[in-house]
Amino acid sequence: MLLSDRVALITGGARGMGRSMAIKFAEEGCSVAVADISIKEANDTIAEVSKTGKEGLAIQCDVTDGNQIRDTVDKVIKKFGKIDILVNNVGGITASPPIEDMSEEDWDRAFALNLKSHFLFSKYVVPHMKKRKYGKIINFSSIGAVQPPAHAINYNTAKAGVIGFTLDLATALAPFNINVNVILPGPARTSFYDKSIASMPEAEKDKFFSFLGNKTPMQRIGTPEDLAGAALFLASELSAWITGETLHVAGGLPSLLAPAPPMMPPK
Ligand SMILES: NC(=O)c1ccc[n+]([C@@H]2O[C@H](COP(=O)([O-])OP(=O)(O)OC[C@H]3O[C@@H](n4cnc5c(N)ncnc54)[C@H](O)[C@@H]3O)[C@@H](O)[C@H]2O)c1
Repeated sequence: MLLSDRVALITGGARGMGRSMAIKFAEEGCSVAVADISIKEANDTIAEVSKTGKEGLAIQCDVTDGNQIRDTVDKVIKKFGKIDILVNNVGGITASPPIEDMSEEDWDRAFALNLKSHFLFSKYVVPHMKKRKYGKIINFSSIGAVQPPAHAINYNTAKAGVIGFTLDLATALAPFNINVNVILPGPARTSFYDKSIASMPEAEKDKFFSFLGNKTPMQRIGTPEDLAGAALFLASELSAWITGETLHVAGGLPSLLAPAPPMMPPK
């Protein structure tokens, strides 16, 4: 097993990639706490975790509230005594009108959900990791941070901030044997898209996801399991000497769509 006797805290673990990571980590021997605004679905995730024989804990937490984040970390430490792995997975697209119509609140909301939450969870978890000279922090950015589709400027800018945050934190924590890496997911079918496609008939939704898939070099949309596999690698000792790395999990995006010029004249 890759995560025997480890303890992970996964934010946004009620649905999508967070749920998939919680189950995969538990299958690899890890106890898992999930922090999510949706407690009912977080409990469902933990029910799946329990089926593996590992312990789980669901905590209701709005990650835009610093006090709730601090309390969440305290609860996990109280139950498990340590946190080996922190997955700052929570995120999503919030109201994002064109820039001339964007309010300060629209901007701040995207940053609170997608970047400040990562800062605050790290702030409260890192002292516990430093004490034990062990830790893995995995942050979730987006392919939109490096190849923005020219909408959701608040989301894409916050996600770009997650990359800078990761690089700085990785440098600061390397002497403490704490690895900090960032995953950039490409389009994957989760509840992430629920709001934007809510009014579409089911058949149109399938067409939309095929369209998105065809925009990737590998010609398919991602699955939550694709992301969970990459996160498992970064959470395990298989990646012990990797820190400050930016891992695109995006079917070949962004670089393969626009390959670099040839390095030698064509024959
Ligand atoms: N799905 C994609 O195509 C895609 C693409 C690029 C990046 N991402 C990023 O990957 C990560 C995971 O996305 P996903 O697709 O699994 O999303 P998802 O919408 O399926 O899941 C997000 C989870 O976060 C929780 N959540 C939302 N707001 C919260 C809050 N204020 N407090 C606590 N919990 C809250 C939700 O309840 C849900 O369980 C996110 O950071 C997202 O931005 C996703």
